Amino acid sequence: MIRILVGNGKGGVGKSTIATTLAAALAARGRRTALADADRQRSSLAWLAARPAGHPAIRALDWSKRLDQVPPEIERLVVDAPANLDGDEIEDLLDMADKVVVPMQPSLFDQGGTERFLGKLARQKSVRKGRKEVVLLLNRLRPRTRAAARLEAYVRGLELPVVARIADRAVFEELASGGLSIFDVAGARHEAARAEWVDLVERLDTPR
Ligand SMILES: Nc1ncnc2c1ncn2[C@@H]1O[C@H](COP(=O)(O)OP(=O)(O)OP(=O)(O)O)[C@@H](O)[C@H]1O
Ligand SMILES: [Mg+2]
Repeated sequence: MIRILVGNGKGGVGKSTIATTLAAALAARGRRTALADADRQRSSLAWLAARPAGHPAIRALDWSKRLDQVPPEIERLVVDAPANLDGDEIEDLLDMADKVVVPMQPSLFDQGGTERFLGKLARQKSVRKGRKEVVLLLNRLRPRTRAAARLEAYVRGLELPVVARIADRAVFEELASGGLSIFDVAGARHEAARAEWVDLVERLDTPR
């Protein structure tokens, strides 16, 4: 099993959107996928509850049941982390994960919570020893804006790879309310949006 944590200490950067889209992408590749919601808001579980039949199945896992109870048949686990985790909780989640995706947004106000989270990550032994893969995802980008340029400059100063650049698109929210993602809708309509995820999904779906 590959355990993927989507986390950032900052709220509203797109953790639940990224976690649900990743789960749908992995399920669409035929992986037996579970989505665990560590967030009290239960956004990911609400998304799964709205998911219509006929789309690749994703197993719901409630974080309160802890992740040592992941069913043995599950091949890919995606965990949607809450923004404001206490020390122990975040250490547990980071400990558990094989790979960590940190969504970031082009706003100066995002950087405090993000920096604390990246600091906690950097202090993890498994990260220091290179055993845990940490990747950045730049979310809600609007091309040629100053905010996007500032975010690009900021991440150049971090020693972490940017593996996805996701544009700001209304389709995420439109589809999410019906339990769907861009990977559940056939046809060319969302091809450009899906193309932004290819490298990230490939990387997360590959055991180290
Ligand atoms: N790439 C995107 N384009 C457009 N809207 C987006 C994008 N990513 C996220 N959003 C929207 O931003 C809002 C916040 O996203 P989301 O709930 O995924 O963030 P979060 O990090 O899980 O928030 P919280 O910290 O509250 O759990 C939602 O309305 C979501 O639809
Ligand atoms: Mg959320």
